[in-house]
Amino acid sequence: MSLTFEEASAKAQRFLKELEAPFVGRHDEAMVITLSLMCGEHSVLVGEPGTAKSAMVRRAASLLNARFFKYLLTKYTEPSELFGPLDIRALRKGVYARVTAGKLPEAEIAFLDEIFNASSAILNTLLSLMMERVIYDGYVELRTPLWSLFGASNRVPEEPELEALYDRFLLRTHVKPLDQDYWAELLEASWRIEVGSISEPKPILSMEDLKAINRTVLKVNLDNVKSSLLRLLLVLEEKGLHVTDRRKGKILKVVAAHALLNGRSAATEDDLVVLKYTVPRVLEDFEKIQVILMEELRTKERVLRELNEIRTNVRTAGIKIKQLGPFDPRLVDHYKNLKVAKNKVLSLIKDFDDDEEITKIANEVINEIDELLDVITAKLNV
Ligand SMILES: Nc1ncnc2c1ncn2[C@@H]1O[C@H](COP(=O)(O)OP(=O)(O)OP(=O)(O)O)[C@@H](O)[C@H]1O
Ligand SMILES: [Mg+2]
Repeated sequence: MSLTFEEASAKAQRFLKELEAPFVGRHDEAMVITLSLMCGEHSVLVGEPGTAKSAMVRRAASLLNARFFKYLLTKYTEPSELFGPLDIRALRKGVYARVTAGKLPEAEIAFLDEIFNASSAILNTLLSLMMERVIYDGYVELRTPLWSLFGASNRVPEEPELEALYDRFLLRTHVKPLDQDYWAELLEASWRIEVGSISEPKPILSMEDLKAINRTVLKVNLDNVKSSLLRLLLVLEEKGLHVTDRRKGKILKVVAAHALLNGRSAATEDDLVVLKYTVPRVLEDFEKIQVILMEELRTKERVLRELNEIRTNVRTAGIKIKQLGPFDPRLVDHYKNLKVAKNKVLSLIKDFDDDEEITKIANEVINEIDELLDVITAKLNV
């Protein structure tokens, strides 16, 4: 199966929308899950109990027509619970094998809840499974169909032996409890789930779809973002946010998936926001990176915010200007400031000339500035 950009994008968008539908304020989490699936990568949700981590992954699995395996790990979980029990009959004939039916080795999509409870025997097998999609077990090398593994945990692991496992989750998100503003909505949503008015969703994507979407991701044009990404990685490194080499190389894939998800066949700086899912390691990194990206990326959101700030300043200046008498020397300062503001607006919108919303606001602000410039000219009688 091969998909056009539009088809692939529409399928991924629909999945994202369906996934987040019953939840309140869980857009980033839905995004992380969707991007992982588009990339064939693993992701982990870290957050305090009861923040819908498990519920989100379970819903994602229901929306997929795929072989799914899920398990809640404790410190005492034995490898056989995940990888299948030893095949006694085979063993009698001297063959070492496991009965893998319905277990992790046969899963396309997996969910390991409380993943950082993994014991060292499980850990080693998981490392190769996640990287190479291979399970080394005794003398046997088992190829697996694993596409994405999702993990959930209440904490970021600090033990060095878990570092390698954590590093294999290309996407990570910190699932924070909802802000007060969302509580009323949360009550409604939980109630809908409780009374069963949210029915078990039907699958809307198959593994075939995911693979076709993934092939489309790999066709996204990245020429316009590579240098910005390099610059950002340097800034992040300077600010103490180190990205392992494995992850550096893979970030572009997530950037491409984000572009496709947003209907673009060529990535733009907007797509570098995925760094907020791929760079953070410890919890405070998640906050830090938001601030850095806000400063460093010329995203639409940021341009809109700056345009609105300029508009507010222009209006405040407008009130003062109208109060000033003719030939007041302060008019000259206002004139200069307004000229600077106008140039700022023009430079802000340079890369956004095909964005209707930005163009509209920018034109309004420029008109307001021009009117004030006329008022000043008249008062100065020049
Ligand atoms: N943001 C939300 N929107 C809607 N429902 C929510 C939200 N957060 C929590 N819930 C409700 O709370 C339930 C509990 O969530 P879930 O068991 O998935 O949490 P968890 O993060 O996996 O917790 P734990 O760490 O204890 O495993 C969900 O099934 C859902 O009904
Ligand atoms: Mg859970």
